[in-house]
Amino acid sequence: MTEPWWKRAVVYQIWPRSFADSDGDGIGDLKGIEQRLDYLAGLGVDVLWLSPFYPSPQDDYGYDVSDYTDVDPMFGTLADFDALLAAVHDRGMRMIVDVVLNHTSDRHPWFVESRSSPDNPKRDWYWWRREPNNWRSFFSEPAWTRDERTGEYYLHLFAASQPDLNWENPQVRQALYAMLRWWLDRGVDGFRMDVINMISKDPALPDGWVPPGETLGHGFPHFLYGPKIHDYLQEMHREVFAGRDSTYLVVGEMPGAQVEQAVKYTDPARGEVDMVFQFDHVGLDYGPGGKYDVAPFDLRALKASFGHWQTGLAEVGWNSLYWDNHDQPRIVSRWGDDSDAWRVASAKALATLLHLHRGTPYVYQGDELAMTNYPFTSLDQVVDIEGVNFVREARAKGHTDDAILAGIRAHGRDNARTPMQWDAGGQAGFTTGTPWLPVNPNHTTVNAADQVDDPDSVFAHYQRLIRLRHEEPVVALGDFTMLLDDHPQVYAFTRLLDDVEMLVMVNVSSSDASAPLDDADVWSGADVVLGEPYRPTMAPWEQRVLRRAVDG
Ligand code: NOJ
Repeated sequence: MTEPWWKRAVVYQIWPRSFADSDGDGIGDLKGIEQRLDYLAGLGVDVLWLSPFYPSPQDDYGYDVSDYTDVDPMFGTLADFDALLAAVHDRGMRMIVDVVLNHTSDRHPWFVESRSSPDNPKRDWYWWRREPNNWRSFFSEPAWTRDERTGEYYLHLFAASQPDLNWENPQVRQALYAMLRWWLDRGVDGFRMDVINMISKDPALPDGWVPPGETLGHGFPHFLYGPKIHDYLQEMHREVFAGRDSTYLVVGEMPGAQVEQAVKYTDPARGEVDMVFQFDHVGLDYGPGGKYDVAPFDLRALKASFGHWQTGLAEVGWNSLYWDNHDQPRIVSRWGDDSDAWRVASAKALATLLHLHRGTPYVYQGDELAMTNYPFTSLDQVVDIEGVNFVREARAKGHTDDAILAGIRAHGRDNARTPMQWDAGGQAGFTTGTPWLPVNPNHTTVNAADQVDDPDSVFAHYQRLIRLRHEEPVVALGDFTMLLDDHPQVYAFTRLLDDVEMLVMVNVSSSDASAPLDDADVWSGADVVLGEPYRPTMAPWEQRVLRRAVDG
């Protein structure tokens, strides 16, 4: 069987609002993306993933969709979309779009009808109850809101303006499948599916466990791996993709997914999705208080987590590989070192570590330039709904603003959403107007214009890694073995395919490290792919990639 194309591909995520603004209104748009395609082709990525650009009130910056089959005027028109897709294809790249199937905006006509009366034919398209359960939403509020019109409550796992669709209703499923077919017919190459593991809920909607001192419960066991999740994904696969000539890429965002579940989700024989975004590693520096309670990062925990996923999906299924995205802080600030001394070296080291695992790597816009977190100085600067609600709740609990700010600076979603840094000019070349979110002041030194032609830049390093995946089958397809599991600074592993073995060693720290390998002898004469020949010591953020022939 030939391997699907996406096993050798690298995906680049565009968050349209902050990528490139063509008309000076301060908000990125589709024409802006089209104008930057040569940059992306030059980077060498194979696939672009576009975060939502559909009509939306923008309460959750587009993940609250009010029309699934159009473009929000702030981003352009359907004609702009078609032109962009054609231009992407002209350059030999593919494009997938982000679809939000778990919920809509409360301004979507389906919900407007649904809320109009208990007798409306679309009433059952959402979850309505006379009495709510105790679930907490992901945005620090109850997951149920009372609708004045009827006195009933509707379910929303995210904001109150993002009501959850009721997938138990076959009409809902068919309407969503029709929409997905509509995008495939338009020529897209697949989908990123937002929180797709949450579409099946236990219809009894049982109360969740309430942590001590809290009033709201965690409903996770009742919707993260619901009773019909596999049935729905298989039905979707049959109804949307089966029988088409092309091979698409479908990646499902799945918070809380376990490896054993992912084996099922991504087993090609089952026809569900191609790969999942799992969340284990991005929770490694959360404290007991959750996402904004920042705990120290331990490299050994990262090895255990990535290693577990590499092993778990070695025989069946496939991994996605990501450091960050529009919901996560910038990796160079999170687990790298964004000081002037180490920003470039640590960004390159972390890129190597991620990209040489087995799986499909995802680059989030600006990571290829070592863009960093934003230097927030005040809680007034927070605009993301998750962050705003967290600040309100934390203040109500009596947390100090300083403590809250520390959490926002480390893990707030606005960090990764500041405008793309194209050049050192006034607004980083993102817009000629006033950007909707301030540009990071470090754009004067961290920007694309300075890097694209510099062979020592972070951008050039990403180019090399992407090329390596295309040219070295062992990078795309080789088996994975973790080394030095307990070493607190050095991340090391091998990849093996037929008669080629590759060694990857990265010092994930700003201090010198000593990391002798047991089989140092066999690596001392190996070819150098990146970095220096084998030595038992490593400088801060040093990386080493070696290749040797073995008896196949
Ligand atoms: C995951 C998306 O990535 C995030 O940005 C959004 O807030 C939630 N899903 C809700 O759609």
